[in-house]
Amino acid sequence: MSDNEIDIVISTLGARGDGCGRGAEGRTLFVAGALAGERVRVVVEDAVGAVPRGRLVEVLEPAPGRAVPDCRHFLDCGGCVAQHMDAGLYENWKRGIIADALAQAGVAANVGPLQRVPKASRRRARLFAVRTATGVAVGFQASGSHRVVDMTMCPAVEPALFAFVAPLRAFLAEVIDPSARAEAEVQVVDGALDVVLRLPGSLDWGMCERLVAFGRDAGVARIGWQPLARGRRAKAEPPETVAAFSAIRAVFGGIPVALPPLAFLQASVAGECALTAAVTASLADGIRVADLYAGAGTFTLPLAKTRHVDAFDGAPDLIAALDAAARASGLGTRVTATARDLERRPLSARELAAYDAAVFDPPRGGAEAQARELARSDVGTVVAVSCNPATFARDARILVDGGYEIGPVMPIDQFRWTRHVELVAAFRR
Ligand SMILES: C[S@@+](CC[C@H](N)C(=O)[O-])C[C@H]1O[C@@H](n2cnc3c(N)ncnc32)[C@H](O)[C@@H]1O
Repeated sequence: MSDNEIDIVISTLGARGDGCGRGAEGRTLFVAGALAGERVRVVVEDAVGAVPRGRLVEVLEPAPGRAVPDCRHFLDCGGCVAQHMDAGLYENWKRGIIADALAQAGVAANVGPLQRVPKASRRRARLFAVRTATGVAVGFQASGSHRVVDMTMCPAVEPALFAFVAPLRAFLAEVIDPSARAEAEVQVVDGALDVVLRLPGSLDWGMCERLVAFGRDAGVARIGWQPLARGRRAKAEPPETVAAFSAIRAVFGGIPVALPPLAFLQASVAGECALTAAVTASLADGIRVADLYAGAGTFTLPLAKTRHVDAFDGAPDLIAALDAAARASGLGTRVTATARDLERRPLSARELAAYDAAVFDPPRGGAEAQARELARSDVGTVVAVSCNPATFARDARILVDGGYEIGPVMPIDQFRWTRHVELVAAFRR
């Protein structure tokens, strides 16, 4: 045992998947990969911010509920935090994240059983790459760092996505300089690979030709380019499509939607199916629905089979894709699609008077402004979909204070092994 190693007992399991115990002088230590009740040996690392961390060296006394991780990169790669939990412990932990968020917001609700998605079902990923002395590393970043963990396996992502890593690694070895970094946004849509590469430098003619050849040889359906961001602004520039070899079409409720590059899709097909089933089951046939934060129509089009749906989203390209799909499929009379920033300009209580029900599925920041308008409205049913229990709980509190009753919260584990969890809940008045 070296000087900076200590043995501690883990008392609790935190929302980020870290075990939490007390080190020297009673200081709180967070330890990735450790479970409540375990005695572990850790190396105390320099405090990042206010909270010191311990790096797990050895589990001295394992707790019940410990599982063997599926991935050899677990605890090095920052992608997964919970492969060391067995199914029962894992479910309790994920449901507990939602229950704690609701309790903190003062919302009383039942949290239902965790609906699981299969392994190897994540269909979208941001891959990071860096040129090292020995080649190019491609994978996710290590936890709390920009170090790229070279991915030799990944039990979380779809096989088609993982299969793209090797050709990407070989291509980047040809085109990026020593120490240079790159990123790839990769999405598998109905078996087709939609890829946007973020590379240093500019998109000159030579790079275009190389990207076209790479995309064709790697069996990619569409390949685009974006400048590698130095700040967030560069990422906000729309990607430039370099080659489209075949169409990228998602199918929602049986209706094909031609997606723009980097279009939002739920993280897995199984997650999307579970969410769609929960949303549609919460809403009666024949009613008028406002689908808020509708994206390219994941819920709009299945709902529109038997309802009138007005869809709103802040991304004009997604709204255009949804509009075109609805018209092409003859749903033009039952679906409208409008680009609108719902944070700055939520549908007002007066506008909401046109609807029997509303669905909202905002980004991680939640839908506070829209929830306030819904709370003042007469809308009978509101179905909330969320990937962030904390902002969901805040928005739920607003709806409950406005007179809605919250039904059971359904957790859907579409971000398997990570600290994230998706959920659906219906509110009625
Ligand atoms: C979690 S996604 C859900 C999309 C869709 N419901 C689905 O399941 O595919 C969140 C959506 O919110 C949209 N969005 C983000 N900020 C927004 C804003 N301020 N106003 C309106 N829409 C916004 C994004 O374009 C994205 O489509």
